[in-house]
Amino acid sequence: MSIDYQQKIPNNVDLASDKTLQRALEHWQPEFLEWWADMGPEGSHEYDCYLRTATSVDQAGWATFGYVKMPDYRWGIFLNPQEPDRRIGFGAHKGEPVWQDVPGEYRSNLRRIIVTQGDTEPASVEQQRHLGLTCPSMYDLRNLFQVNVEEGRHLWAMVYLLHRYFGRDGREEAEALLERRSGDADNPRILGAFNERTPDWLSFFMFTFFTDRDGKFQLSALTESAFDPLARTTRFMLTEEGHHMFVGRNGIRRIIERTADVMVRERTDAPDRLRALGVIDLPTVQRYLNFHSSVTADLFGADLSSNAATFYTTGLKGRYLENRIADDHVLQGATYPILNASSGDLVREDAPALNALNERLRDDFISDSVSGVEAWNTALQRRGIDFRFFVPHKGFNRRIGSLAGAKVSPQGKVLSESAWNARIRDWLPTAEDRAYVQSLMGRVVEPGKFANWIAPPSGGINGQPVDCEYVRFN
Ligand SMILES: [Fe+2]
Ligand SMILES: [Fe+2]
Repeated sequence: MSIDYQQKIPNNVDLASDKTLQRALEHWQPEFLEWWADMGPEGSHEYDCYLRTATSVDQAGWATFGYVKMPDYRWGIFLNPQEPDRRIGFGAHKGEPVWQDVPGEYRSNLRRIIVTQGDTEPASVEQQRHLGLTCPSMYDLRNLFQVNVEEGRHLWAMVYLLHRYFGRDGREEAEALLERRSGDADNPRILGAFNERTPDWLSFFMFTFFTDRDGKFQLSALTESAFDPLARTTRFMLTEEGHHMFVGRNGIRRIIERTADVMVRERTDAPDRLRALGVIDLPTVQRYLNFHSSVTADLFGADLSSNAATFYTTGLKGRYLENRIADDHVLQGATYPILNASSGDLVREDAPALNALNERLRDDFISDSVSGVEAWNTALQRRGIDFRFFVPHKGFNRRIGSLAGAKVSPQGKVLSESAWNARIRDWLPTAEDRAYVQSLMGRVVEPGKFANWIAPPSGGINGQPVDCEYVRFN
């Protein structure tokens, strides 16, 4: 399915055949560009960046690479092809044909799902907008910009649905997506983690490792949707999401490798010594990990949620890899284990599976994170270092759901307030940690050069060498 690049808005949805919709989106386009000029990567607008752009939605060869100024990036609307005779895979409508339009009774819930997803996309661009000023290399700068333009495209993906299927309400929501601002006291982004700051590159890599992984799981659940246009657009978004998680996984691995090499060379694991040598000690990396993992776990919502049950039963949002699960895909009377901390201990309880769908998606997310973290440990093992990273227990540092407020250690032990307070500096980044990491952030942009605290990657982008001039400053 080829993409029409002759149009003002590149698309594969035959936008030209619907003049009213085309006009509405062409009206939104300059507002998006204005938002990008204000809130996109700071100082970057004149740079020529080596970026990939979607040119088809085929599995093989969907991207072309070339130099582009980011404000000229061809943001567009790309949906995976319609599957013939696709059927609803779960809930009360299981087995019926999927919907090409929004059923009136589900309109407000669907709009809410699309707006909530859409809001995260510009939010992350806003959170990351200063990072280019302190990039550890030109290679990393390019990767940051790739993530940023694709989050911009994800916003387009959701705005298309709002304009095409939700009439005036949808157009108003599309406007509001450009008006909220990450971290703004009066008009913040919808979800908590998207109002946190991303002040340094360790935070950025943790964000792309954990929070873009939340994106993967939310999008995967939406690819199951009975509303076919949503399923098709999220399916294509997932192909882009893969690169974002790669940036995080490899970014952290390179930081760990660099630290580990210095530890071996200097025969020390003392944080002070390592900091004096300008690398990030492993316990600090673990504390950042703990923070980002727990803040992201909250994004999945309350462990028991009647909304989650409704979204599933009505066919709006499925489970991760729904069609690979061996059950009836209706879940009436089924149960799912959740944790309760009210007795002072973590107790497993069976809850109605329909109400526990957020918890189930969170569990899927956590086991995916665990396997990602294991790859970092391999780098340590290979160097004979005993330290092991781990994903903290899901009750650690939670703000949402039944575990909110419970004091649970990263190992999963319920603690008294005073025991928690005595250890918190070991578990979450301290002001000193953040100041130290911040002190490392300089700007390295000579091709092939890397900041002292991070190892070079094993290869470049799209088969280019590591020392390719990925960004040309003009
Ligand atoms: Fe995204
Ligand atoms: Fe992403």
